[in-house]
Amino acid sequence: MKVDVILGLQWGDEGKGKIVDVFTPRYDVIARFQGGPNAGHTIEFDGKKFVLHTIPSGIFHPEKQNVIGNGVIIDPFILFQEVDSLLASNLNPIENLLVSRRAHLILPSHRLLDAAYEASKGADKIGSTLKGIGPAYTDKYSRVGLRVGNLNDSSFNSCYAYLKERHLEIVRQYKFDYINYLIDGLPFDEYEEAWLESVKRLKQFRFVDSEYYLNRCISDGKSVLAEGAQGTLLDIDFGSFPYVTSSNTITAGACAGLGIAPGQIGTVYGIFKAYCTRVGGGPFPTELHNEQGDHLRKAGHEFGSTTGRPRRCGWLDLPALNYAIMLNGVNKLIMMKADVMDSMESIRVCTSYEREGILSDKLPFDLGDEKIHPVYDTLPGWNSSSDGRMILEALPGNLVAYTNYIEQATGLPIEIISLGPDRTQTVFRKGEIKVSA
Ligand code: IMP
Repeated sequence: MKVDVILGLQWGDEGKGKIVDVFTPRYDVIARFQGGPNAGHTIEFDGKKFVLHTIPSGIFHPEKQNVIGNGVIIDPFILFQEVDSLLASNLNPIENLLVSRRAHLILPSHRLLDAAYEASKGADKIGSTLKGIGPAYTDKYSRVGLRVGNLNDSSFNSCYAYLKERHLEIVRQYKFDYINYLIDGLPFDEYEEAWLESVKRLKQFRFVDSEYYLNRCISDGKSVLAEGAQGTLLDIDFGSFPYVTSSNTITAGACAGLGIAPGQIGTVYGIFKAYCTRVGGGPFPTELHNEQGDHLRKAGHEFGSTTGRPRRCGWLDLPALNYAIMLNGVNKLIMMKADVMDSMESIRVCTSYEREGILSDKLPFDLGDEKIHPVYDTLPGWNSSSDGRMILEALPGNLVAYTNYIEQATGLPIEIISLGPDRTQTVFRKGEIKVSA
């Protein structure tokens, strides 16, 4: 079997969690490949709402195996907040979640470093979720980080103490007042104590060499779905650097973050919203600073599921979408939150960028340059409710026309249109989803 991939084509928050949950019944294994608790994957069903940060979105199907891959970074404290909320809903993730021994740990002092770095940047701050993502990946690439597989080492405590001291030295150099800084509402010492307790609990999970586990699944004919976090435009290499996250969010990240060879990748599903959002700093050429932007934010509940911050909203950006499609080798598209645009009279779509009279359909390196201006097509809105119209034939005509327009502009089929957060609010345009053989 091949590994199918679901990932985001914009600046994150596309709705990957919902779609992974919808796809899960068709797969045997769901494996998260990068990022950490900066992610917030929201899943709604039976009137209940869950937000996952580290745990794969297949967890709501107890008969399916979920895997946290080597490319993910784990904060045990946050992981156990998720575990405890699932336990409170009679779901026990400890039974169907495997954790890679190679996954790195986010230490409490990584969170201090994140905050110190952001504070030092002033107005140029990235708008990090402050979950310690950049500093934890930095330690991975500096070859000093602690991994899940080190938890039982006799040297774990001394390595932890060494890293913590190294981090605190930097924090002091930055003159960051870490004594009065609260991490998730707790002073450093208290957070550290809770974190160390969570580290003990982490040992309840089955630690595996997930690369061997997943490759055995593939050769045994089991179907694997790889779940991405954040989005392509936040990729460390191809995103709007430096306003990016610290991992490869693209399909190549699934190979590196799970130990899967490129030839084992099957269908790549690219998820995008019918409009665009971004949370945090950085360029966003199609951003709307008017009541249409406010409308999208309000109607789409565009507030961060990890930080609660209001998301910036704007029109769909085709050069950016086509860039993401190219980088990921996307085969099929999934369009989310089209219902949020239900009441719009007209819709704009960026088709190219203009710089000093020259048009280009490429995403420019210096996306934030003030000389660059988006060029738009204007399409009629459907201006009618899509609520409850979950069959293809019932969709408003102009919504179908908008979908066809995007298919034409990308050369790819839009397999699914999502018209709300619940599992049931999903229109399969091309019939049943086929798992790659
Ligand atoms: P970090 O990865 O928390 O350091 O954040 C870096 C940038 O990526 C910031 O602009 C964040 O708002 C953004 N970001 C990180 N994770 C997500 C996500 O899951 N959804 C949307 N934006 C994210």
